[in-house]
Amino acid sequence: MANRKLFIKSYGCQMNVYDAGRMADVMAPLGYDLVSEADGADLVILNTCHIREKAAEKVFSDLGRLRPFKEAMAAEGRRMLVAVAGCVAQAEGAELMARAKIVDMVVGPQAYHRLPEMVAKVERGAGRQLDTDFPIEPKFDFLPAPQAHGPSAFLSVQEGCDKFCTFCVVPYTRGAEYSRPVADVLREAALLAEGGVREITLLGQNVNAYHGEGPDGRTWGLGRLARVLAEIPGVARLRYTTSHPRDVDDDLIAAHREVAALTPFIHLPVQSGSDRILAAMNRGHDVDGYRRIIDRLRAARDDMAFSSDFIVGFPGESERDFQATLALIDEVRFIQAYSFKYSPRPGTPAAALAAQLPEAEKSARLIALQARLVEIQQAFNQACVGRPMDVLLDRPGRHAGQLVGRSPWMQPVHLEAPATLLGTLAPVVVETATSNSLAARLVEGNSSMSSDRVLAEEAPPPARIRA
Ligand code: SAH
Ligand code: SF4
Ligand code: F3S
Repeated sequence: MANRKLFIKSYGCQMNVYDAGRMADVMAPLGYDLVSEADGADLVILNTCHIREKAAEKVFSDLGRLRPFKEAMAAEGRRMLVAVAGCVAQAEGAELMARAKIVDMVVGPQAYHRLPEMVAKVERGAGRQLDTDFPIEPKFDFLPAPQAHGPSAFLSVQEGCDKFCTFCVVPYTRGAEYSRPVADVLREAALLAEGGVREITLLGQNVNAYHGEGPDGRTWGLGRLARVLAEIPGVARLRYTTSHPRDVDDDLIAAHREVAALTPFIHLPVQSGSDRILAAMNRGHDVDGYRRIIDRLRAARDDMAFSSDFIVGFPGESERDFQATLALIDEVRFIQAYSFKYSPRPGTPAAALAAQLPEAEKSARLIALQARLVEIQQAFNQACVGRPMDVLLDRPGRHAGQLVGRSPWMQPVHLEAPATLLGTLAPVVVETATSNSLAARLVEGNSSMSSDRVLAEEAPPPARIRA
């Protein structure tokens, strides 16, 4: 089959990054190769996010930019198919179809295994296609084996959310919680490891709510899953994201004590440091509950550090509530964080609350909060100087003889190292720190999980991309 070009643009969370990879996998057998620009592509997929405002507008403006490309191709007698996938597709699929004639297909996050069929239908002249079902058959059963691209990979183990925080659209766009069976996850992980993957990031909207069916017929939690994944030859590092404080159980904490591959760095969104706001958000825990979890995780591993998500300017948030959030930041000393101005989302309970904050107030709080976080992040980088750690070398550096990798805490680490070490986990000692990265030197050690092949291509950036 003649090769065709596929361009995918992903917005939003890591789940979308993972889904984009799987959409590419699903189209590959039909002769579609991934390309890095939309111009000239036979199929363009916009993999959208609905989490904050202007999501739909962004999609419309991207669609507008595609129009000249589509017209230029038509002039040459070729056809560019345009698909909208992801959470905007799920939430506003019909409206998208109605408003943007350029869209040939709308496919929701639970239905993208049906893309080949949809493309075939459009090509046969069956008209525009919309599929935003939550099918009974999980899409994972229909997806081909994933490909490894570099030493770091995402693996989706859980999807959806039943928690209904009052600000959030995810329960509506991604549907109810679902966990993949353990055997499925292990099979995918083993394939990735065979392909040279050394670090696996387990993904889920609430990844630690994982409750997959085990080979023993019982329900396994994330701790148990991590223990078994860590046994797969080649798997040197395990991360997971995004976890919810409510779902941190004893076994997961124990796993952090016992499983060396689990990194001492956990993304544990708290959103606010005020009990009143946490209750209004329906987070299901208070500040003290969060504190206790942090303490127990630190007791399990003394090098444990945390990142978080924060929302400022939730309806009714007072200056005092906001100060409580800053106090919690000082106390936990989050080394990284994603922070957002509260954005009212249609159909969510918080959007209907009367006490919406003025934009200027939200902006001022966001600036103050981010300044505090940056200070802590820089102090943490400085505190790493002189420290030994393992670095997953995932890309060439700027100069010959240089490689760049990631520390267990996701800091980029630059060092002099032979290209043969690309794709491996190498022991280093940190020599200097800047505000965003570390520089280190290689040291002797036996922790290197050398892959038996050299990974020549540049790895995708690890789990940092967020909405
Ligand atoms: N399941 C995860 C978060 C998924 S959404 C959790 O419960 O922690 C990712 C982040 O987007 C959230 O943690 C929150 O900080 C932010 N977010 C979600 N809805 C938002 C909204 N309406 N306005 C601003 N930020 C929002
Ligand atoms: Fe959204 Fe809350 Fe579910 Fe996270 S736990 S996805 S914030 S509803
Ligand atoms: Fe966005 Fe959907 Fe992820 S709304 S953050 S792409 S789950």
